[in-house]
Amino acid sequence: MCGIVGYLGERNTKEILLDGLKELEYRGYDSAGIAVLQGNDFANYKAVGKLINLEEKTKDFITKGFAVGIGHTRWATHGKPNELNAHPHLGEESYVVHNGIIENYAELKKELLADNIPFLSQTDTEVIVHQFEKNLKSAKNAFEAFSTTIQELEGAYAILLVTKSEPNTIFFAKEGSPMLVGINTEGEKYFASSDTPLIGQCSDVNYFEDGDYGYVSADEIAIFDRESKQKKPIFSKLTQNKLSAQKDGYRFFMEKEIYEQSDVISDTLMGRLSEDAVIFDELDKNLFDDIHEIKLCACGTSYHSALSASYLFERYSKIKTSVEIASEFRYREPIMSKDTLFIVISQSGETADTLETLKMAKKAGLKTLVICNVDNSSMVRLADSSILTRAGIEKGVASTKAFATQVTVFWMLSLYVAKLHNTLSSQEIAKQISLLREVPASVKVNDEMHEKMKRLSKRYLHGHGFFFIGRDIFFPLALEGALKLKEISYLHAEGYPSGEMKHGPIALADPELFTIALLPEHMLYEKAKSNVEELSARDSTVCVISPKIFTKADDFVQTAPHKDYMLEFFEMMVVLQVLSLEISIRLGNDVDMPRNLAKSVTVE
Ligand code: G6P
Repeated sequence: MCGIVGYLGERNTKEILLDGLKELEYRGYDSAGIAVLQGNDFANYKAVGKLINLEEKTKDFITKGFAVGIGHTRWATHGKPNELNAHPHLGEESYVVHNGIIENYAELKKELLADNIPFLSQTDTEVIVHQFEKNLKSAKNAFEAFSTTIQELEGAYAILLVTKSEPNTIFFAKEGSPMLVGINTEGEKYFASSDTPLIGQCSDVNYFEDGDYGYVSADEIAIFDRESKQKKPIFSKLTQNKLSAQKDGYRFFMEKEIYEQSDVISDTLMGRLSEDAVIFDELDKNLFDDIHEIKLCACGTSYHSALSASYLFERYSKIKTSVEIASEFRYREPIMSKDTLFIVISQSGETADTLETLKMAKKAGLKTLVICNVDNSSMVRLADSSILTRAGIEKGVASTKAFATQVTVFWMLSLYVAKLHNTLSSQEIAKQISLLREVPASVKVNDEMHEKMKRLSKRYLHGHGFFFIGRDIFFPLALEGALKLKEISYLHAEGYPSGEMKHGPIALADPELFTIALLPEHMLYEKAKSNVEELSARDSTVCVISPKIFTKADDFVQTAPHKDYMLEFFEMMVVLQVLSLEISIRLGNDVDMPRNLAKSVTVE
């Protein structure tokens, strides 16, 4: 995910900015840049790829004396990862860096273009600097222009802006994306989008709150709230532990990523929903023309999101859908017809088996689409179209937020196709869209649930195996729950359709067989309930996850009541993730790097 740094002080500004950006590398990025303003002189450098490329470009650049600087590592969301799209973005005499998404950028850009303002990049960010300079023409000073600009922006952002019209100052704003300012005894000021770049540089930091904006100069930190009331900074001591700061204080990256899901899903949705339609600007309007079938292909967790998608495409888009495991598909001489849209799903965009199936589909002349988390990855480059999931870098080998954002994209895509093919009424689409807006809230981890999972986990450390069971789309979720547990606990776990247990697996039922049963209120509740009762009757140890009280289980996790089964899906997904996490921690395993597994499997 993108990272921001800023610096005001006497030391060689370039070095401070590059050092800060290095501390943000762990978040993942595809390009980087800095802008330094000293008096009336601007210097700006950008490079695609690793920071070493930016270091190389800036090797002869040195500042002596007071200067202000801003820097950025970019994880592409709007526009390809190239130099033009890398931040900082330039107006006529100002530079801006930004994390987040400006939802109304298209409208603002249209007006600016009508005023003949030239745009260099495809990013949403560039509108900020042009809008600022437009406002500057009629404002008393740069701060007034900046305040007006911030009020005109919709979406999520952490912004730093520097301008020649106020050369010793950095303007900042925060809404929905993190940002802090730090100080030290030498009188230097630092900005960053997370703690890590400031460790070792600053003694005290102020975390901005949503709605905060203002400016920082050599001797002033001026913060205003949403109502434009000035407020005092609240400084706290900065931790000196880098690794724990990278994990935002969580014990493992996987835990951090589970907790991040609400925010990253908001990013996935951002700018893609209107009242009654799903908007995918990145898709060609004709992509679904003459398409009568969808074929989804993936590996691992991405395969489970593809299975989930098949329920949504058939239910909402009324389009025949099949799902394939990539390593199987590539060798089984499949029949591919040209009225099929071939969709590959991959967090990394590099998985060898999935990539190969994409090549096969292209060779057979099928239209192709990739749902991916990494722009410019091999699959994104190869497929005809791509939708980015915007989950940010995922460090835990066991995938969590990537899966959550993939399913979110598929839910959106199924409605997008439903509208194109007229398979759902406009009221139903509007209803589904309002449900989609509730997903970020449904995946928030509450303390009570986490505590309960911690306690429950100690009862599930042995036994001869786990069955995760569910019906309909809760079956792929059961598969994913079992995979999570397998990956990080090394315990044997299988996912099964609830109704299939009686056709064989139930023979294993005894007190040492643990069944984790998903019992959503809004999807085949009665049917799934009787499947669980069959297992209880055979003395299997059962843990039921449901919003409805269930008395015949050994353990019961009550989830919140929701209006729709998909919101239940997302909440239960989090419960399963936290359960696996806590079991793995109790077993003393390496949660983030489980044995024998790799994050990205680029060999067959
Ligand atoms: C590896 C990872 C899994 C992942 C799978 C597919 O096996 O360990 O977590 O689900 O690859 O990866 P992809 O990047 O294609 O989604």
